[in-house]
Amino acid sequence: MDTTAVRHYLHQHPELSDQEFHTTAYLQKQLEQLGYRIVTPAALHTGVIAEIGPTTGPTIGLRSDIDALPITEHTGLAYASENPGVMHACGHDFHMASLLGAAATLAEQADQLPGTVRVIFQPAEETHVGAQEVVDAGGIEGLDAIIGFHEKPDLGVATVGLREGGLMAAVDQFKVTLTGIGTHAAMPQLGRDPIVGLAATVSALQTIVSRNVDPQQTAVLSVTHIEGGATWNVIPPAAWFEGTVRTFSHATRQTVKDHFYAVVKAQAAAFGLEATIDWLEGPDVVDNDPVLTKIVRAESEKFLTVVSPTPSNAGEDFAYFSHRVPSVFAFFGTHGTSDWHHDDLRLDDAALPSASQWYVRIALRLLTYFAKEVPHGQETH
Ligand code: NI
Repeated sequence: MDTTAVRHYLHQHPELSDQEFHTTAYLQKQLEQLGYRIVTPAALHTGVIAEIGPTTGPTIGLRSDIDALPITEHTGLAYASENPGVMHACGHDFHMASLLGAAATLAEQADQLPGTVRVIFQPAEETHVGAQEVVDAGGIEGLDAIIGFHEKPDLGVATVGLREGGLMAAVDQFKVTLTGIGTHAAMPQLGRDPIVGLAATVSALQTIVSRNVDPQQTAVLSVTHIEGGATWNVIPPAAWFEGTVRTFSHATRQTVKDHFYAVVKAQAAAFGLEATIDWLEGPDVVDNDPVLTKIVRAESEKFLTVVSPTPSNAGEDFAYFSHRVPSVFAFFGTHGTSDWHHDDLRLDDAALPSASQWYVRIALRLLTYFAKEVPHGQETH
């Protein structure tokens, strides 16, 4: 399969999260032509899940996300987006092309597979709801393990980044509204000023990472958006801010949340304000199974450069899989021109063959492992 042509086609036709109808139809057609059984649950409106191999033996899931971003492309590429304002700026076109290429290779040896390979083309990663949609629809039931990767522009071609444990951060999102009493700017004593209270609260929140989190752990708390007031001489009745927290362990995640609530409530009380906190829990840490990661590393080292990547503070909804099924999530080098979510991100097609090969070899290796080598008592179901 010409994975470069596949990627260019997909890059040209990007679609937003949960609206990947054209992409879904394209992928499904390709998989049907390769002889795959389409097993997409009816509850899944976009995305494709398909299987190959005998229905006995272990089942290994290979995952690619399929959605694009609301970004206007500025790459100048001949195959740039034809969908205005939408761009594959996170390389999910690369993921899809790699997995489709792997699917083609696996189809050629379908008769000899010691188990089933399930390819999961998942919708809506960027909005962090797609993996959960797949889980809710029953798309990962019966899997012995699930494998995925995110392309990494700062790693070279034929380079894979692997690490046991946390690879990508847990994501929390918050919005805080502080309500006081509006008044004339010249008579603050007659009101309760939410602006001054908000400024103090935002500053105080920055002490959570520096004073409450274990210095050996990592955490980020960023306030990214503030609104309040409409003019220069009126103190408004309310103001709000929002932002995000990124952590790598359950304990740290809980510590930050607890102190966040304490700081906001105490600050609000000090300024006589009412605080409303909206806390949105995003994906958990992408947590790589130590035993499987070791196996994946040993296999990868046979044909790729393997590096130990720095964990990324970005989130990845693969976490919804990795907390239900033993999994390995990797970073795969694409020798790109900038980073994720940039409008000028260009990737090197030379990275495609090794990415496809990685999916194939890891799938075969893990099928053999679960069919013949998994120690008694450690089966997952
Ligand atoms: Ni992405």
